[in-house]
Amino acid sequence: MTQISPSILSADFGSLKEEILKLEEGGADYIHLDVMDGIYVPNITFGPPIIKKLRDITDIPFDVHLMIDKPERYIKDFVDAGADIITVHEESTVHLHRTIEEIKSYGLKAGVALNPSTPIENIEYVLEYIDMVLIMTVNPGFGGQQFIGSMERKIKSMKQIIEDRELNILIEADGGIKLDNAREIIGYGLDIIVVGSGIFEAKDIIERTKMFKSL
Ligand code: DX5
Ligand code: ZN
Repeated sequence: MTQISPSILSADFGSLKEEILKLEEGGADYIHLDVMDGIYVPNITFGPPIIKKLRDITDIPFDVHLMIDKPERYIKDFVDAGADIITVHEESTVHLHRTIEEIKSYGLKAGVALNPSTPIENIEYVLEYIDMVLIMTVNPGFGGQQFIGSMERKIKSMKQIIEDRELNILIEADGGIKLDNAREIIGYGLDIIVVGSGIFEAKDIIERTKMFKSL
C-alpha cells in the first residue's frame, strides 16, 4: 500500500505542533520536512533546531528532504535532530556515494532526490546503496506547484529498473500531488507520496489526510 508523507511546508508555521498532531490523527506514515537554504533552492525554511523541537511532538518517522548545497556538512546535525530518513539531492553533493554512506553509518535510511530534469542514469551506480529514490515532480523550492507531466515516464522507468535489478528501494514522489490526481500518480508505481498544499489547503486537515490515506 502506498504510504503518505505530508509536507509541513504549507502548514501554519506558528502552530506546527497542532498541525503535526492533526497529521498524526489523520494517519500520516511519515512527516516530510523540507529543508531549504536559499542557495540550492530559491527559498529558506528551517534547520536542525526546529526539527529537534518537532521530534518531541510525535513518534512518526521524519522524512527529511535536504534542499541544501553540500549537505554532507550537516548530516550529523540532522541525525542528532531526530531524522529517520535523510534524502539529499544528486545535484547538490559532489561525492554522492560518500554522503549516502555517511547517512547510513548512523543507522538511518538514505534517499537520493532527482530534480525533474535530472536523468535516472545519474544515480545508476549508487542504486544498490540507497533505501529510497525521491522523484521531484515539481522544481524544488516551493509548495503549490503543478505536477510535471513527463515525470510519469520517469517514475515508471524507475519502477522498472528496481524490478529488473531486484533492488530494495522505495520510490517517493514530491510535488503537485492533489486529491484529483493522486490515484493516477500512485498507479505509476509509487511507494510513498509527499503531499503539501493538497493537505493544508483543506479546512479539515485530519479529514483530508485520511482521504489521501484511503486512496
Ligand atoms: C518542494 C518540496 C515539497 C513541497 C510539496 O520543493 O520539496 O515537499 O512541500 O508541496 P506541494 O504538495 O504543494 O506541491
Ligand atoms: Zn520535499
